[in-house]
Amino acid sequence: MAGRTRKRGEAVRTFILRNVEDRSGDVVLRATRQFGISRQAVHKHLKFLVGANLISRMSLARYQLCTLEEHKTILPVTDAAPEDIVWRMEIRDMLAALPENALDIWRYGFTEIFSNVAAHSGSESAFVQVRRTAVSTKMTIWDRGVGIFDKLLSHMDLIDERHAILELTKGKLTTDPASHPGQGIFFTARIFDTFSILSKGVLLSHTSGDGDDWTVETQQEGFGTLVTMTLKNDTSRQIKDIYERFSSQTSPGFSTTVVSAHLAQYGTEKLVSRSEAKRLLERVDRFRVALIDFDRVECIGQAFADEIFRVYPSEHPEVSIREIRTNKEVQDTIDGVRQVDHTPARRQGSPQDPALAGEEIGV
Ligand SMILES: Nc1ncnc2c1ncn2[C@@H]1O[C@H](COP(=O)(O)OP(=O)(O)O)[C@@H](O)[C@H]1O
Ligand SMILES: [Mg+2]
Repeated sequence: MAGRTRKRGEAVRTFILRNVEDRSGDVVLRATRQFGISRQAVHKHLKFLVGANLISRMSLARYQLCTLEEHKTILPVTDAAPEDIVWRMEIRDMLAALPENALDIWRYGFTEIFSNVAAHSGSESAFVQVRRTAVSTKMTIWDRGVGIFDKLLSHMDLIDERHAILELTKGKLTTDPASHPGQGIFFTARIFDTFSILSKGVLLSHTSGDGDDWTVETQQEGFGTLVTMTLKNDTSRQIKDIYERFSSQTSPGFSTTVVSAHLAQYGTEKLVSRSEAKRLLERVDRFRVALIDFDRVECIGQAFADEIFRVYPSEHPEVSIREIRTNKEVQDTIDGVRQVDHTPARRQGSPQDPALAGEEIGV
């Protein structure tokens, strides 16, 4: 009985820790509902967590997670210290308290982002900060180099930062194709719970959930490139789960992309034109499957839909174009243009294309 009560107490405290910084709702109220206990009981648990230095009170009803560990270092970028050695010598011990699968993810994220500093930024050093709370760990890697968006804009045929972001989030984008595959940011963003890049006053953030959640905000002008990654300490995620989501049964390797249509939108302008559709589909012929994600898109124009779902597939039979997360209005527009498709073998994911038959993508 005592054991059961203790376990329940631990469950309440774990719930509080996981939700205490969530600004969308009163954590006390949520805990009373979740566990069927009184407000006083929840307050006792809050007091316990404050006493254990796991959370601290900010105002009457607001708490924050305490930093349990913090490390900062400046790492020189030299050929003599490749990223895997720097990980082993300098970084791994900062994260030593974490389980194996979380450490694998941290190793992946650190080595990808640190190697980007070395390969692309022109900076001679990187500042690294690691902060651990009872719930998650956050790493920041900052270089004072050329800045990722300026780098992409100066090396590639792109209109502006927004266009650079659209291309970057599709994956297989690199300014150095001879020695780089352009996968680092695509996978790192999706492996962590949250991932962000701040450069030149543009903050690009990704939150992992049921699907991609990219946001773009304007921040104070900063120089260089600042990347932050956070991961829950008890994550059950494995790197291979993420790889599997972007490979397909018929095409192993990085063969599936997700294109977030809302990133092609400027402000409240609707996606209506063929030129916007063409921009959305730039470089997707490097993939076997392109999932066009309409999350946050309220409606689209007929010409835009026609270009993506009828014209492009007829010109690129090797790429399967599929829509995901559409609302009814968007889906109706897509279905409408498909109905005028007079090339029967060209429907997306059609079993008539043997290579695509039975292919399952869990994105
Ligand atoms: N720290 C950085 N500073 C400047 N440019 C960067 C930085 N990190 C990434 N980039 C740019 O973003 C591109 C994509 O990075 P990534 O997805 O890791 O692919 P890859 O490293 O294989 O090129 C790079 O080719 C480079 O142009
Ligand atoms: Mg890279």
